[in-house]
Order: sequence, then C-alpha cells, then structure tokens
Amino acid sequence: MEKLLVTGGAGFIGSNFVRYMLEKYPDYSITVLDKLTYAGNLANLADIEEKYGPQGRYNFVKGDIADPVAVKEAMAGARYALNFAAESHVDRSIEEPGQFILTDVYGTYILLEEARQVGVERFLQVSTDEIYGHVPDGSSVETDKVEPRSPYSASKAGGELIAHAYFITYGLPVVITRGSNNYGPYQYPEKLIPLFITNALEDKPLPVYGDGQQIRDWIHVLDHCSGIDTALHKGQPGEAYNVGGGNERTNMFITQTVLELLGKPDNLITYVKDRAGHDRRYSLDTTKLRALGWAPQKDLATGLRETVEWYLNNRQWWQALKAGEFKEFYERQYTKR
Ligand code: NAD
Ligand code: TYD
Repeated sequence: MEKLLVTGGAGFIGSNFVRYMLEKYPDYSITVLDKLTYAGNLANLADIEEKYGPQGRYNFVKGDIADPVAVKEAMAGARYALNFAAESHVDRSIEEPGQFILTDVYGTYILLEEARQVGVERFLQVSTDEIYGHVPDGSSVETDKVEPRSPYSASKAGGELIAHAYFITYGLPVVITRGSNNYGPYQYPEKLIPLFITNALEDKPLPVYGDGQQIRDWIHVLDHCSGIDTALHKGQPGEAYNVGGGNERTNMFITQTVLELLGKPDNLITYVKDRAGHDRRYSLDTTKLRALGWAPQKDLATGLRETVEWYLNNRQWWQALKAGEFKEFYERQYTKR
C-alpha cells in the first residue's frame, strides 16, 4: 500500500479526487487532513468511509494545515502529499482576507516544511488559473506572468510561489497544477453554478454580478481530478501545469442554461452590483498537460445536465448546507447588494 496525504479532502474537489483515486488505484491508501471549515463536509466522504474505511485504505484526520503537529502526524509515511486545502471563495476573500493568507499561504508553508522532513516523492500544490489575473485576449501559458488581483488569487499565488521556492532551494519535488473553474457534484452552494441551480429550485433570484458577460473556462471536476493525477505521476518536479476544460462561456450563458435545464423562467435573473476587482476573463492553454497524455472527457452540455440532476437528486445535501452558516453569508453578501 502506498500512502497519499490529501489535505482539504472534505471539500468539493478534494472529495471527488479521493473517490477517483481510491477507485483507480487499488494499491493506494489515502489519509485526508481537513479542518472542516464551513466548506468541509464529512457527508462528501460518507460513501468513501463506508467502502474503503474498513479496508484500511481511507482514513480521516481533523486538523489544520497550519498546525505543524497535526501535519506531522497526518503526513508520516506518505509517499505523495497533495494540497487541496484552502479558503476558496473570492467573495469571502474580499470580506475577510486574513484567513486566506493563514491557510493558503502560511498553511502551505507548514505542509512544505513537513514534506521536506518526510522526504515525500511528490508534493502537488493545487493552484488556480486565477493567479494569472484577468486575461483580455489569448490564453495563459504556464510561463506567463503571475498577476493575481483578488485576495484569494493573491494568496493562492503566494502558496504556489513558496512551493516553487522549496523546489529550487531544497530540491523538494513540487508539482503545481492550475485548474480553471470547476463544476460538478458536492460543490458548496456559494459558487456560481450550485448557487444558481439551488436558488432556481427554490424559485429565488439568481444574482448576476455586473453585466454577466464575464468569461470563465469551465471544467468538470472529474476532468480536473484526472489532470491532477496525470501531473502527479507524469509531471516534472518544479513545473506548473494548466488544467482547463476549454469551455469558455459567459456567466449569462451558464445562467440561461441552468434555467433552461430546470424549466425555470428568465425573470429569476437579477442583476446586482459587480464584485470589486472582478476579473473579466480567464482562459487556459493546456498544451503542456495534454503532452503528458491528458485530455478532458466531459463536454459541458452533458456535464451541466448531469450536475443539475445531481442537485435535484441530492436536495438533502444542499438544503442542510443552505440552512446553516450559508444563510448568514448570503444575507451579508446579497441582501443589500
Ligand atoms: P472547498 O472550499 O470546497 O474545500 C476546501 C476544503 O479545505 C474544505 O474541506 C475545508 O474544510 C478545507 N480547509 C480549509 N482550510 C483548511 C485548513 N486551514 N486546514 C485544513 N483544511 C482546510 O474548495 P474546492 O473548490 O474543493 O477547492 C479545492 C482546491 O482547489 C483549493 O486549493 C482551490 O484553491 C483549488 N481550485 C479550486 C477551483 C474551483 O473551481 N473550485 C479551481 C481551481 C483550483
Ligand atoms: P465563482 O463561482 O465565485 O468562481 P470564481 O470567482 O472563482 O471564478 O464565480 C464565477 C463567476 O460567476 C464569476 O465571474 C462571478 C460570477 N458570479 C455571479 O455573477 N453571481 C454570483 O452570485 C456568484 C457566486 C458568482
């Protein structure tokens, strides 16, 4: 059995990744280290606990990546460490940047330091296309300038720059992935697609920021997971890899598709004040990762249809979240917007 440490494994992408890897690699065991913030949810891992827990292939540790004691315990004996743990929502980073710096920057440093002591074979830092900043034309390649513009993207950029410094300075075999906007099952309903699906199901307004013509490059979460898997096993230490779906769409296109799939009226669309410093467009060139044999499999129309079905079939999952901490966040963010 080879041990992987997956931090942030109780979140959206992390939980999908844990399921993907345990199914694909029968000789891997995974330890999840997760603080269980508002975005961490053991329900995301319930099927995994049931299936792989008794076999000793899955193990959950509650803890903070910024806590060296918790990290030391969780990382012991790991061959690979993958850092998904982060504060991940741009709007929350505008409200309260401090926790982003503590987790996404300082927490990453604590993990890197322990990875160096353990001597892991790979340290994979899950980063984002947002570190490139707004892309007026063309597509970002990995050698482009890092120009983050939100507290979230700046803290993610900080985390990956420190990771890269550990490669240069200490020879830690760090690989960085830069994913584009993910969608799919288990995404916390603060993000665009699950927020709009669940609001539409509740016949609530869909708050479109600004003119709704901002562009994101959407990738299905399982295509992101396979990209991370490829970078982990085939990527070169010290290198970054873009993981984009090649589905550039305006927010208005996504909004209208969600409404059509649910048979809900256009008058649910409500234009609200734009996000401060809103990046208008992201776009990734994925030639470098494709050269390692990766390609996304899910077309956007199918992926969005399946995602809408998932939220329809898992009402209890998201209704419990929307009744909790989310309620206060929503009131703060949206009621007087
Ligand atoms: P998420 O918010 O759904 O999950 C984050 C997880 O990290 C949660 O389980 C949370 O409890 C945990 N966590 C937060 N702070 C922690 C800490 N200090 N210690 C331990 N655990 C902590 O986020 P996500 O959308 O699944 O994103 C996962 C990673 O992928 C993040 O690093 C994010 O920056 C990156 N990413 C996300 C997207 C996207 O579209 N969602 C795109 C590219 C990259
Ligand atoms: P989001 O899901 O927050 O991801 P990110 O900001 O990391 O790209 O937002 C995706 C896009 O949707 C972004 O351009 C902001 C926009 N958006 C809205 O218009 N309304 C909303 O309520 C939310 C959450 C996002």
